[in-house]
Amino acid sequence: MPPLTHLILYCRAGFENECAAEIADVAAAMGVFGFCKAKPDSGYVQFVPHEPQQARALSGIPVDRLVFARQAVCVSEFLTQLPVHDRLQALLPAIERMGQRYADLRLETADTNDAKALNTFCRKFAGPLRHALEKKSIAVSNHADPAEAPNLHLFFLSSSAVHIGWSDPASASPWVMGIPRLKFPSGAPSRSTLKLEEAFFCFFSEAQRTAKLRAGMSAVDLGAAPGGWTWQLVKRGMHVTAVDNGPMDATLMASGLVEHLRVDGFRYRPAKTVDWLVCDIVEQPARIAALVGRWLAQNDCRNAIFNLKLPMKKRYEAVQQCGDIIQATLTGSAMAERPRFKQLYHDREEVTGYLSV
Ligand SMILES: C[S@@+](CC[C@H](N)C(=O)[O-])C[C@H]1O[C@@H](n2cnc3c(N)ncnc32)[C@H](O)[C@@H]1O
Repeated sequence: MPPLTHLILYCRAGFENECAAEIADVAAAMGVFGFCKAKPDSGYVQFVPHEPQQARALSGIPVDRLVFARQAVCVSEFLTQLPVHDRLQALLPAIERMGQRYADLRLETADTNDAKALNTFCRKFAGPLRHALEKKSIAVSNHADPAEAPNLHLFFLSSSAVHIGWSDPASASPWVMGIPRLKFPSGAPSRSTLKLEEAFFCFFSEAQRTAKLRAGMSAVDLGAAPGGWTWQLVKRGMHVTAVDNGPMDATLMASGLVEHLRVDGFRYRPAKTVDWLVCDIVEQPARIAALVGRWLAQNDCRNAIFNLKLPMKKRYEAVQQCGDIIQATLTGSAMAERPRFKQLYHDREEVTGYLSV
């Protein structure tokens, strides 16, 4: 693998501190110590290990196990002052120095309004760069085995400053910029529907999606109205009990697969175990964590996906605390695994959790 001087982690703008605290913790647990550079609202974090030789282990951190990072790129070089009229002249030797062949080329930026202007530049520059790399047979080669070869990332801060690095497809996000491109499905009653769809992509492989989301399964949707999450379940042929005082979408109700109950989601319990609990109630995160823990501990559901609306401050700590609450509720039951959490692209001031028995 090429040399590694630091990691760049992409995150939601405004969550740099949480992303930094998390990577510092995860790296320390692996025996790698360093410091973070995190500019507010920049949409990324730089983690610089004190001992670059130790940093190698970081390339194996599975991004889907990090809550706040959408992607983690192992950076070999940071180039500034690329010559405006011939960027390739500076970039190609740096890429060659990494001494590797690549399965894919990613020209990326932070996900911020400021960086949006760079997207046009990236699109225009991708063609000539790809061509130059193929001519030199150093990268983006059809001969490289895409399952084995790393991806080459150029993370542009401006059209003249770029972090050049790579990611291992076995641990990295498969999406460009770590952002799944999901289309809003026509017929879904709310944009929230994309959160649950993204959660299915984020937490499960294709084979797991097929096994876990089957027609005929039963589900309860707490805080269901107007029905964006219920819609995702009904689309997969599931029977859904939608719990909410608010009105459900009429077309969704006409599917015949939804029972709407206007009761309190914190009091409702199903008559028998359901395959799925999903919960999008806007409440204190600790209260939602306790609710989800109870459902699993009491065997009310086999799987749970839920949203935690984060407080204004100490958001990383709040997520940790919710994990502790759920784990404590489950102590002594057959399963005491920690839930997985992810701040999805479609999440705002929130994270999504998943746990199953
Ligand atoms: C963010 S919205 C849910 C959006 C929904 N997931 C969708 O995709 O359309 C939150 C919902 O939680 C409901 N809610 C709030 N407190 C509740 C409670 N104690 N029990 C049940 N529903 C509740 C609200 O009425 C609101 O409709």
